[in-house]
Amino acid sequence: MKVILWMAMSVNGIIARENNEEDFISDDSWNAWIGYAQKVGTIVWGRKAYEIVKSWGKKYIDDLKNIQKIVVTSDPNYKVEEGFEIASSPQEVIERLEKEGINEIILTGGSTLNSSFAKLNLIDEIILNIEPVIIGKGIPLFRPEVFDLKLEFIEIDKYQGKTTQLHYKVLK
Ligand SMILES: NC(=O)c1ccc[n+]([C@@H]2O[C@H](COP(=O)([O-])OP(=O)(O)OC[C@H]3O[C@@H](n4cnc5c(N)ncnc54)[C@H](OP(=O)(O)O)[C@@H]3O)[C@@H](O)[C@H]2O)c1
Repeated sequence: MKVILWMAMSVNGIIARENNEEDFISDDSWNAWIGYAQKVGTIVWGRKAYEIVKSWGKKYIDDLKNIQKIVVTSDPNYKVEEGFEIASSPQEVIERLEKEGINEIILTGGSTLNSSFAKLNLIDEIILNIEPVIIGKGIPLFRPEVFDLKLEFIEIDKYQGKTTQLHYKVLK
């Protein structure tokens, strides 16, 4: 299973404000992410990231139709909208999807779930869509935890003159 972490962030690694607003993340980033998610076919969110996107309105959930959507939560009774599935841990995500014959997924936060996967050394590639802004205070790409990921540069790309995309492989 290849796990690709795909996140949009400020130059200094902030993925949302402390109140969860993502006003500094552009539509270009959302559209680039949707395009990649459609190509890969499966996305994984933490329970909080799922609730935040749901709160933005139907349009954003509708953008995800035809994509397999997994929400990770420790609550076995957690209810998700139609078209979403739940899993109780990163390990369960991998084991279940491998049994379904899936060999590539996108992990898209938030901060806590990213660290959960990183601590288990389950991330294989990282794609960062970087917005041309610095946000002094907010939620970081990874919630502070003890782990190191050593990376190898794959490529850099520029989207519509605004965001810059960095793509790395995680060395294992
Ligand atoms: N810029 C971007 O690309 C981007 C993308 C995604 C999200 N975000 C932002 O990220 C923020 C959310 O990040 P967050 O760190 O607060 O929350 P999060 O990572 O989205 O969700 C955390 C929750 O996921 C579940 N979880 C995480 N690790 C787990 C594990 N090992 N086993 C079982 N359950 C696990 C737990 O749910 P339970 O509490 O239910 O057990 C945990 O409380 C939001 O502001 C969102 O807007 C930004």
